[in-house]
Amino acid sequence: SKTVLSTSSSFSSTPLIMSQDELKKTAAYKAVEFVESGMVIGLGTGSTAKHAVDRIGDLIQQGVLTNIVGIPTSIKTYEHALNVNITLSDLETHPVVDLAIDGADEVDPDLNLVKGRGGALLREKMIEFASKKFVVIVDESKLVDYIGASGLAFPVEVVPFCWKFTAHRLELLFEEADCVAKIRTSVETGEVFVTDNGNYTIDLYFKKSIGDLKVASDAILRLPGVVEHGLFVNMATTVIVAGEDGVTVKNK
Ligand code: 5RP
Repeated sequence: SKTVLSTSSSFSSTPLIMSQDELKKTAAYKAVEFVESGMVIGLGTGSTAKHAVDRIGDLIQQGVLTNIVGIPTSIKTYEHALNVNITLSDLETHPVVDLAIDGADEVDPDLNLVKGRGGALLREKMIEFASKKFVVIVDESKLVDYIGASGLAFPVEVVPFCWKFTAHRLELLFEEADCVAKIRTSVETGEVFVTDNGNYTIDLYFKKSIGDLKVASDAILRLPGVVEHGLFVNMATTVIVAGEDGVTVKNK
């Protein structure tokens, strides 16, 4: 099902041009409307999810939300959420999460996702798997016709041991999709990027469709050396998309 909410004012004849960051913020604020006092909330990672964390922090400070417990999906989000005074916990203390809010890199028409370009896919997947509801927040640039269509990275978290071997096996697995595997390096240092879990990330680039997503997901996970991948099949319960024409809420 689909709901469209207009963002443009009926009093203005000038079209409202929003920056990508404003669109991200609009989607994030809409998602936070689903948060209720007393909830355990999965806190996502990335520039879109950061707006949701800020908004939750503001509403706690205003006394609108009380007894909120946040479960952060990365060290970065942990630090940011602490700064905005959200009480934090983990999956061991709170194994059931009421609602998780997070961004995504690609969203297909069936609400399957690619996540992890921000480097946090493993903790994100663990926490979002444990969530009764998983609300994804994106600006419209993240919508794709099929997974891999953006031509951007499809991340796989691997153990550092013999990562070149794992990268090669991933390329072989997706030979028919003309897959190229690259180790992720840090933009700042140029060194190999190390995840919060001490692992490496191999970014896959496809020239063709990878076919059935469940089959692809299972095949990647069967490769020794792989820890987890950024394909989130059938996990999102709601996707909130902010675009120039308004906010669309898509439910699974
Ligand atoms: C981090 C993620 C992010 O949610 C994803 O990369 C989207 O990031 P942004 O909101 O900055 O566009 O999966 O691992």
